[in-house]
Amino acid sequence: MTQSQIGLIGLGTMGAMLALNIAEKGFPIAVWNRTASVTHGFKAEAGVLAEKITPCETLADLVAAIAKPRAIILMVPAGDPVDEMIADLTPLLDADDLIIDAGNALFHDTDRRAAAAAIKGPHFLGIGVSGGAEGARHGPAIMGGGLRSDWDRVAPILNAIAAKYKGEPCADYMGPAGAGHFVKAVHNGIEYADMQMIAEVYGVMRDGLGMEAQAIAETFKAWNTGPLQSYLIEISGEVAAATDTHSGKPMLDMILDRAGQKGTGRWTVIEAQQLAATIPAIEAAVMARNLSSRLEERLAGEAVFGAAPQKTANVTLAQLEQAMIAGKILCYAQGFALISAASKAFDWPMPLPEIARVWREGCIIRSSMLNDMATALTEDAERNLMLAPFFADHLKATHGALRQVIAAGALSGLPVPALASGLAWFDMMRTGRSTANMIQAQRDFFGAHGFERVDGIADKHGPWAGHGL
Ligand code: 6PG
Repeated sequence: MTQSQIGLIGLGTMGAMLALNIAEKGFPIAVWNRTASVTHGFKAEAGVLAEKITPCETLADLVAAIAKPRAIILMVPAGDPVDEMIADLTPLLDADDLIIDAGNALFHDTDRRAAAAAIKGPHFLGIGVSGGAEGARHGPAIMGGGLRSDWDRVAPILNAIAAKYKGEPCADYMGPAGAGHFVKAVHNGIEYADMQMIAEVYGVMRDGLGMEAQAIAETFKAWNTGPLQSYLIEISGEVAAATDTHSGKPMLDMILDRAGQKGTGRWTVIEAQQLAATIPAIEAAVMARNLSSRLEERLAGEAVFGAAPQKTANVTLAQLEQAMIAGKILCYAQGFALISAASKAFDWPMPLPEIARVWREGCIIRSSMLNDMATALTEDAERNLMLAPFFADHLKATHGALRQVIAAGALSGLPVPALASGLAWFDMMRTGRSTANMIQAQRDFFGAHGFERVDGIADKHGPWAGHGL
């Protein structure tokens, strides 16, 4: 019997779709799931792809079915299940075999697993896979971390199954150990912010302009033909156009406004704080998700103060589109700056232009702007994206509209936290003389912490009584 070229563990939705994708690209694959009936059912439903699939009832069978040196993809829930699976597999594998964690792992866990693998084997790769079930089946974006030689070993398979941008695979090596999962976490942080900004402009249209869902859908569809062209704008148009089969009302109106989260956005924010990187639009998006789940508190607030959102005549759809363009550039600039900060702090040379290239197709944040970002980062990966001439020109043309939308939101109780924190960041990023002199004076006043003077004089303290005590 021909041995499989790769194995896959975990036939949940993502695992099953990835396995079908691998089989479809011509690679024989051995699969195992904890429940044997799931494994057999998977092959039974694989149609013409079944001939490439070897279902295995035990882990030993799985290992025996794969050609050496083996490569096995784990598609199990992040956290303990990954460690348990590594522990179960390790005694069955050779030291030069390779375990690939393709789940949404916390990159610190991937670091730890890679460090353990380096001591005693088998080898370990952490890959971020984006694109949901559809992407896993027909072409995800793939961000790899670990040893370059391990990535190169499986790159032919990963490149084959990845999404393609003009024929170029949206898969690449991001750096050592947890780099792939780190880049995937930042992807998700940007995903949170992009989604939140779309929800904010949706809120201005719904509550501020009193637009019906169909009109909102048409607006998103129109935007999707311009600079905002992206998967998230596209699906926002589709969900706004959908009708609930139960009530006949717009589907969006029937969905409870309590957003779920698996935690990757939160990880990004925590890591940014550790690195003193500034990603306020992403932080605001995570905050908004947290706050959305506090429905009872929001209702209590509404009972005391009245509902915040009011109609506004102070904003146009054209301004909203421009505000969204500015907000999007700013949140991506923050995300790339975070990766740049992590590259330096962890001594992982994560390739910013390649990251933008990988994100152009397959992943949830794919958008036409990412191609321009890849170009700008290729010109100068060290420069903040908002300073790249192409994006600086866009920001110069759109930040006025962003101000108008935020001002209208503030006056009419329409919350736009991600857009507003994006703008505050933009303004702070172009303020040569900030207000931190006041912070320094306060610190010196109450704690004699000292400050630097603008004129270079060596005196580090102010004339206030009690300093230095
Ligand atoms: C992707 C997505 C995916 C994410 C889900 C849900 O890139 O395919 O980011 O990995 O897990 O979309 O994430 P939340 O539950 O945190 O919204």
